[in-house]
Amino acid sequence: MTAATATTAETFRPALHYAARNTWLNDPNGLIFHEGVYHLYYQNNPLGSVWGNMSWGHATSPDLLTWTEHPVAISCDEDEDIFSGSIVYDRDNTSGFGTASAAPLVAIYTSAFKPGSAHEGIQAQSLAYSLDGGYTWTKHRANPVLSRGSAEFRDPKVIRYDGGAGSYWVMVAVEAKDFQVVLYKSHDLKDWQPLSSFGPANATGGVWECPDLFPLPVNGDPENLKWVLTVNLNPGGPNNGSAGQYFVGHFDGTTFTSATTITEGLQDPDRLGEYQWLDWGRDYYAAVSFSDAPDNRRLMIAWMNNWEYANEIPTSPWRSPMSLVREVSLQSMDGSWRLVQQAAGDLAPRAEQTPSFSLARVEISDGQHLLDGAAGSVQRIELTVTPGTAEECGLIVRGDGAQGTRIGIRPSEGLIVIDRRESGQTDFHESFASIDTAPIRTTDGSYELTIYVDRCSVEVFAQGGQVTLTELIFPAATSAEVSLYAIGGTAIINSLSVTQYA
Ligand code: FRU
Repeated sequence: MTAATATTAETFRPALHYAARNTWLNDPNGLIFHEGVYHLYYQNNPLGSVWGNMSWGHATSPDLLTWTEHPVAISCDEDEDIFSGSIVYDRDNTSGFGTASAAPLVAIYTSAFKPGSAHEGIQAQSLAYSLDGGYTWTKHRANPVLSRGSAEFRDPKVIRYDGGAGSYWVMVAVEAKDFQVVLYKSHDLKDWQPLSSFGPANATGGVWECPDLFPLPVNGDPENLKWVLTVNLNPGGPNNGSAGQYFVGHFDGTTFTSATTITEGLQDPDRLGEYQWLDWGRDYYAAVSFSDAPDNRRLMIAWMNNWEYANEIPTSPWRSPMSLVREVSLQSMDGSWRLVQQAAGDLAPRAEQTPSFSLARVEISDGQHLLDGAAGSVQRIELTVTPGTAEECGLIVRGDGAQGTRIGIRPSEGLIVIDRRESGQTDFHESFASIDTAPIRTTDGSYELTIYVDRCSVEVFAQGGQVTLTELIFPAATSAEVSLYAIGGTAIINSLSVTQYA
């Protein structure tokens, strides 16, 4: 192998994203901020680097950027795999799992019962509790606590509802193959009563998984709250495979009523581009939000992978990173609402120089223009571009002259594009090499992009965070060039700044 193509086991280990030390992970689970610490649990195979032996792995962070891995929190056993779910802080000990001195953290997870177990073939909801702040867990003796006799009932997200209808726990989970979010209510986390169901609606191209439900102020106005229901689906995303969609509406303590449903029942495949997507890229799945985040912030994180090729991505011995943690807010737009997302952790302490490269107001011509001094493999790039005569213009990151990942705009089509066909290793799966797009608008005549580049990913926040695209890439460690490009004409780069991270 030449230096340019040499990869070691750690070539792709992200600098700004969480990945397990030497095992497989998928969905984020049990996200909670508790006693000053962010807890990230996740679907984990403690014994390997492909999906299996599903248990909850565990990591903590003080700042949403640096993570410490801990021993497995909740393990599979001979009867059950531990599928996705959530954690609540049961401060009033409604569950009775607490002691006089400690209120419990309670995990609500899906028991995926194994062949030969008493509930073989069923997915049902179960509990575990922790009295030491989330580090060690005890399974409830009377699991499961909620069964519908279904093989596809999973991914409970429990929230505390405090509103006009009272104060109680609400669970949102899915009947995955029915494209339904099912809602339940409880006073003690053990006894659950059905409330309502939502769906099918909008995108129904695969199974529905990993829902979430939370209120957000519109344009920051606490007097004007809307409820957001998110639901992930696989496959059937706007650029194929796994993705997440959201609905904005009202929750009265019993029923979620969507004000943004475009199609009811099974999806209209021609309208996929009109549905509201949490992220338009190929690698942002099972997104879910933290409980009890400080200052009422709504913080979300997703698994940065896609079930189409998840088990084959070329990282070893670990497999799959998480996305950056994102703060989401809600803005009104054209008589509807849009989620707005931005990276949540404070990256400033990680910056080597601020910014390390910048330029302003240059016109670029047809072709590729290498930026001397901008190279790097862990960086944040801010770009504002005004279209000229070019049919496409933007940036190439993680480049080496021959290869690179293209992130650009096609003004006449109103599209943002990520082209990862030449992004490094792509041949581990036939569907990985792709050109992916999302609809995008100008702001005051220009397009604004913020791009986080890491060792195996790009995350793009466009249109002020209303449009995001997240994708894995596997370039050689030495592919670090940044270039501007235009195809078929000119474009004006109003501003560009590149910040390098250690
Ligand atoms: C989503 C998912 C969930 C399930 C978990 C199993 O990626 O399929 O529905 O709980 O992964 O690992």
